[in-house]
Amino acid sequence: MSELNKIVLKIISNGKGILAADESNGTMTKRLEAVNVKSTAENRLSFREILFSSDGMRDCIGGVILFDETINQISSSGKSIPDLISSSGVVPGIKVDTGAKDLANSPKEKITEGLDGLRDRLKKYYDLGARFTKWRGVYSIGEKYPSDLAISSNAHALARYSALAQESGMVPIVEPEVLMDGTHSAEICLSKTSEVIKRCFEELILHKVDLSGIILKPNMILAGNQSKDKISNEEVSVKTLECLKNSVPNEVPGIAFLSGGQSEIEATENLNLINKNNNTNFIMTYSYGRALQQNALKVWSNDIENVVATQTTFNHRAKMCTLAAQGKWSSELENK
Ligand code: 13P
Repeated sequence: MSELNKIVLKIISNGKGILAADESNGTMTKRLEAVNVKSTAENRLSFREILFSSDGMRDCIGGVILFDETINQISSSGKSIPDLISSSGVVPGIKVDTGAKDLANSPKEKITEGLDGLRDRLKKYYDLGARFTKWRGVYSIGEKYPSDLAISSNAHALARYSALAQESGMVPIVEPEVLMDGTHSAEICLSKTSEVIKRCFEELILHKVDLSGIILKPNMILAGNQSKDKISNEEVSVKTLECLKNSVPNEVPGIAFLSGGQSEIEATENLNLINKNNNTNFIMTYSYGRALQQNALKVWSNDIENVVATQTTFNHRAKMCTLAAQGKWSSELENK
């Protein structure tokens, strides 16, 4: 077993999942202002440190994705943030892309940037304690989208990033996110997501990426958020499994879904059904941002000194997601 494969399994085995706490300062500011908390470096750290030192962290989370600001911060106990995370047996990770920018010659689409100087940045993050990384490519669905140009340029960037991350001794999370915004059907989401993922793997193979040392982070197959033809959670799980079975090579050990704007319960229920119906060899778990933190953030914003209430809320959500990652969740457990 390679070192990279060992890191993957440490992060996602036994129902453990990933806490995506890598919101950029811009995104975190939106999240904090939505609950009337001022977005200062101190407040951003304070909320995150409460989650990082919770029981849910130790019991349910295998890896945390950090943003550059956070990986360089010192916790109130004096430990660095990566040390605080590792002390719970959790693997620290880092988002290394520098964001999605307008794609030249297709300005309604995005290309993710951050390859320049990446080898040096990866070395710095490894020295700070990171053992896995994340890069997100983002695609919209529309009449002409995603275009071949967006599909191929983002796949190329994801593959170059992945090769560099593995060269630095870190596991790349490969995240091609097909957005749920729009009026499209789930069938269209299935065909577009399958095309995007297949192209990513063609590039990863071309760039000689060790597929046993990556984690794929895809969207689930959903109808667009403005579609009139919503599908059931059961159908979401069936279509998501169909997509992954047909597009992901067998060597990939695990898949960790993003929540992408689903509610906490919806993201939990869908993951549970995916695991109940899982007819693949892939580990299927979560790498949620909003679907793990939304309620905890609301509770914290009511009283930012109330660590216990914030952690209780987060612990519950993390426990529900970890049960779902084993197909053992049920709605009755939500109210216990
Ligand atoms: P959400 O689960 O909120 O979609 O965030 C996951 C993530 O890391 C997006 O890049």
